[in-house]
Amino acid sequence: MKAIQLNQFTSNLHELEVVETKIPTPGKGQVLVKMLYSAVNPSDLNYIRGDYQEALSRLIWNQNKQQKMPFFQPGEQNPHPTPPYIPGGEGVGMVVGAGGGLLAKQLQGKRVAVSAGPPMGTWQEYTVVDAKKAVVIPAAIDDQQAAMMLINPLSSFGMLTDVLNVKKGRWLLQSGGASALGKMIIRMSVELGIKTISIVRRDEQVAELQEIGAAQVISLQGCDDDNIAAYIQQQVYQATHGKGVDYGLDCIGGYMLEAMLPCLTVNGQMLVYGTLAQADARIFSRDLMMPCASIHGFFAGNWLAQKTLLQKVMLMRGMKKMALKGCFESPIDSVFSLEDIHEALFAATKPGKSGKILLKITS
Ligand SMILES: NC(=O)c1ccc[n+]([C@@H]2O[C@H](COP(=O)([O-])OP(=O)(O)OC[C@H]3O[C@@H](n4cnc5c(N)ncnc54)[C@H](OP(=O)(O)O)[C@@H]3O)[C@@H](O)[C@H]2O)c1
Repeated sequence: MKAIQLNQFTSNLHELEVVETKIPTPGKGQVLVKMLYSAVNPSDLNYIRGDYQEALSRLIWNQNKQQKMPFFQPGEQNPHPTPPYIPGGEGVGMVVGAGGGLLAKQLQGKRVAVSAGPPMGTWQEYTVVDAKKAVVIPAAIDDQQAAMMLINPLSSFGMLTDVLNVKKGRWLLQSGGASALGKMIIRMSVELGIKTISIVRRDEQVAELQEIGAAQVISLQGCDDDNIAAYIQQQVYQATHGKGVDYGLDCIGGYMLEAMLPCLTVNGQMLVYGTLAQADARIFSRDLMMPCASIHGFFAGNWLAQKTLLQKVMLMRGMKKMALKGCFESPIDSVFSLEDIHEALFAATKPGKSGKILLKITS
């Protein structure tokens, strides 16, 4: 079967290879999935470049120099994979084999959305995944949408309703407003009565976000780098009548986080969940201290790992309601074959895409 292989962490996306490899065998509690579509997400690029690996290496629990690889959690739990490996964090496919266990057997023949690797990623014709990470998708959701049904919906729902627990009638400021996840936040906010201010970098994105319910959209197109912070703050001041926002959600980092933090009101909460600017932010402690504001991080895998089975069931129920209201639909920019992985990755990193990039893996 065909698979995409990452041989070493790299920023040169041409280094990813299309290889012929054996179909993997599912172990106990696992299923073999024939992949139909897989999404190309920003997190896939973080795995490819080694961004996560580098960040994890700085954390206290990874400072044991004898360790060969860093771990996502303390106690040597959940190792970050070391290349060579198959990337691809999510996708949709048909369960064509089970390695034993009741759940795995029940999934035989079903179409499932999977949250998989790396190292055993979704950018290959067949992947093996823990049956608990395979979710049966209703027939009403087509294959392409199903390929994007786990990471962004779960993260946006979790951040909004669980981590921040945003209250009705409050203001939420978000960066990356036109991202797939950003639009999910806007649509769910409409359902929950939350007022969103979305920051985008292109004027053409303003009308689209207003249409789906953003209370205000701030476009930075044409704004000088030196004026971005002042411009964002002036717009937020006007929208909130000088009060500031109760919540912030930032996926850009660097200059953006610096600009958004002073927009928080007293007891305001900032949640950082992405690093698209790939830059450090300079934060003066007093800017958090004086308004009694707080800043938190969010990483879906680590957040979900702390939930009990019952909490996970409740999350799924809540997400299902939002899914039925169309909150998780994502537009698609283009679809590439597995062989065209380099073109797919370039398209995914290009500014100004009209939606997500998908890989069509098998029919
Ligand atoms: N922490 C977690 O667990 C978690 C989980 C899921 C997603 N995420 C994060 O959520 C974010 C959005 O993901 P997605 O799949 O929704 O993304 P996406 O649909 O691929 O969209 C990316 C968006 O970010 C904008 N963008 C990219 N680089 C930028 C930069 N340097 N400055 C300003 N804007 C920039 C793009 O703007 P243009 O349209 O102008 O190009 C685009 O609208 C990513 O950072 C991802 O890593 C985090």
